[in-house]
Amino acid sequence: LPASIRERSIVLVGLMGSGKSTIGRRLAQRLGMAFADADDEIERAAGMTISDIFAKFGEAHFRDGERRVIARLLAGKPHVLATGGGAFINEETRALILKDSLCIWLDADIATLVERTARRSHRPLLKGRDADAVLRELAEVRNPIYAKAHIRVSSASSPHEHTVRAIMEELS
Ligand code: S3P
Repeated sequence: LPASIRERSIVLVGLMGSGKSTIGRRLAQRLGMAFADADDEIERAAGMTISDIFAKFGEAHFRDGERRVIARLLAGKPHVLATGGGAFINEETRALILKDSLCIWLDADIATLVERTARRSHRPLLKGRDADAVLRELAEVRNPIYAKAHIRVSSASSPHEHTVRAIMEELS
């Protein structure tokens, strides 16, 4: 693996359930890089859950905090960074990610995403709604934007180890 890979952050983008956090953690381990999860960092910085931030302050406020947290992480040492599904859709956040990282879109089919998002605690966009319908709508709007990532890797196959290996191959 070229040493230069470890000099930039690697940012994982894609829809809810695409495996960004799980795959990101394993990839970081494999590469000997630090790992961060933007959703967790936002919750820590705000001292409240993502669902509470959405409920109390609205999505726009969440996107502001998300951009600040991602900017801070990208300014520090190189990380493998898992982002929330909407981060890359925000124009300013996307510009930061594209400029300062190697950005990978984890792409999966709707059925796989639905299956993986059955646990919805930090996913206010799915709360009380039909996950299949929401994810279908989001995919339609967002996939052309995720396609602006530097690299696209399918994360539809399980186990996640396959995807980690596919990413390692892309990087080599
Ligand atoms: C969101 C995805 C979530 C979380 C928030 C909004 C989105 O992250 O940031 O609920 O807009 O797609 P995951 O992709 O980790 O579920």
